[in-house]
Amino acid sequence: MCSQVLINPFRKGCVIFSKSLARRPLANSSWIRTLSHGTQSSNNHDFHDKSGYENSKRLMITGFGAITVAGLYYYFKKNIPTVWAHESKENEVNTVAREPGSFVEGLPVYSSDDVAKHCNESTGVWISYKSGVYDITPFIKIHPGGNKILLGAGGSVEPFWSLYAIHQQPGTLALMEKYRIGNLTKGEEHLAMANMHDPYANEPRRHPVLVVKTKKPFNAETPSSLLVESFITPTDIFYVRHHFPVPDVDLSSGNYSLEVIGLDEKHSLNLNLDQLKTAYAPHSVTAALQCSGNRRSEMNRVKPTKGLEWGQGAIGNAVWKGARLRDVLLAAGIKDSDENENWHVQFDGLDADPTNAPYAISIPLTKAMDPRGDVILAYEMNGEPLTRDHGFPLRVVVPGTTGARWVKWLTRIEVSKNESESHWQQCDYKSFNPSTDWDKVDFSTAPAIQEMPVTSVVCEPHDGEKVKLKKDKLNLRGFAWSGGGRGIVRVDVSIDLGKTWHVAELLDPVKLSKQWAWTRWQANLPVQTTGQETEIWVRAVDSSYNTQPEGMEHLWNMRGVLAVAYHKIKVLVEEN
Ligand code: MTE
Repeated sequence: MCSQVLINPFRKGCVIFSKSLARRPLANSSWIRTLSHGTQSSNNHDFHDKSGYENSKRLMITGFGAITVAGLYYYFKKNIPTVWAHESKENEVNTVAREPGSFVEGLPVYSSDDVAKHCNESTGVWISYKSGVYDITPFIKIHPGGNKILLGAGGSVEPFWSLYAIHQQPGTLALMEKYRIGNLTKGEEHLAMANMHDPYANEPRRHPVLVVKTKKPFNAETPSSLLVESFITPTDIFYVRHHFPVPDVDLSSGNYSLEVIGLDEKHSLNLNLDQLKTAYAPHSVTAALQCSGNRRSEMNRVKPTKGLEWGQGAIGNAVWKGARLRDVLLAAGIKDSDENENWHVQFDGLDADPTNAPYAISIPLTKAMDPRGDVILAYEMNGEPLTRDHGFPLRVVVPGTTGARWVKWLTRIEVSKNESESHWQQCDYKSFNPSTDWDKVDFSTAPAIQEMPVTSVVCEPHDGEKVKLKKDKLNLRGFAWSGGGRGIVRVDVSIDLGKTWHVAELLDPVKLSKQWAWTRWQANLPVQTTGQETEIWVRAVDSSYNTQPEGMEHLWNMRGVLAVAYHKIKVLVEEN
């Protein structure tokens, strides 16, 4: 039976299933409702309850369809020219001429039960979309996510277009038609959509100045000219990076708690927010939070990568307040010891994918236990309770470390000999050399990104701007930051393609270590000629004398992370 594949998750290559899947039963009506209510416990049902189980199974089937479609999307995005040429030679199916998923006269008709029977390589792998039935068996071998695609077998992918709105690209849909084999029985086209509501219906309001990259899930960056205006980035205009709908936690319901699995069961803790606040001394940290994919758009100019098209604004600097993770782990029986120095601390958020696997990540235990590491369980950002977009009621703050590790809507912590098994820990947020692409990559060969490398950005003027000189000088402003607590010791600026360099003035106080915050900088450079394009380069040097490489081409990686080459912009210097 196909469903066996679905209820016995397996792990191969990057087919990662969090044990949280087993730990966290699916809600009996809809995983979407579970998500939008945030606190899962109130909706939990016994996984073995029959109706809940059947529903769960059906939802998982369709849920995995989304994963399949995501794979199709990325594969096609990368391979459109190849696939197209190949197909037009060997198979004359015209995949673009018709509306994707529309009824096609003359094709065989299959019921959703027929589709459900085709769920592995021996039966063939089918999926449905609107009126269309597709045999995607030939695609399995070339799927970047490996066998994960098998989990999408036998169901409709349609409900998940609303969750993964990013995949509703005409190109993706049209190319899916290449695998078209038939029509779905009339009347069954919308079954998959019945009783589903928009999982993004309960999102918070956002400041209109944010530059939106995707609406569902919401991802938006701060305009870089605003970044440099203040040392502390105001919460309302702080960049937002979500993978799923935003959980909505109602503390008054009493449903929210943080589970901490320490040394053993005996030492486990279950804390509500008040208990966390009163039992552990508050600690404040000023730290920059930066997405691993910040500046990806510059890397994409070399060659397209996979990921959100971030400019320079997926970074911000804030004051975070909360309990020290070290204190909580000590209370959970963890000791400072050489024996556990290679252990990890795993974090789960309340947001989850369609299989109900939560967003989950881990960091080394040494970072969590380091009294100088300043890792906190934050309930405040910039003097106010966290907003929903930034993780209300609780998030991990891991200063000096990439944003992916700062888990929002934190609900579970586990100390473990192993890293988190999640997709995000194992198969994302890693970097490879420029010759490694999706067809070759073995994610297990690369460590997860933790501390970030040094970076710097020119925020003002912006690329392509027409600028006027002030007293014959060009005024430049920007920020610089390095991970691991390494302070910025110098920012260099050049307006003659690196022949000469000027030292910029650092505007914010800098320490050599435990420097978690960013540093803004400014420079006034004499410009001899006006009326022509001038190229500006900036690079920073951190307290370990690490600096940025010159070009993105040698840093290029298929995921588009760690884009930290010199920031280069061109401006037109106008006559006054
Ligand atoms: N935590 C949860 N639970 N879910 C998420 O999608 N995104 C991570 C991290 N924590 C994420 C999460 C990523 S990739 C980044 S860059 C930061 O949150 C962004 O934090 P922000 O939205 O507060 O700026």
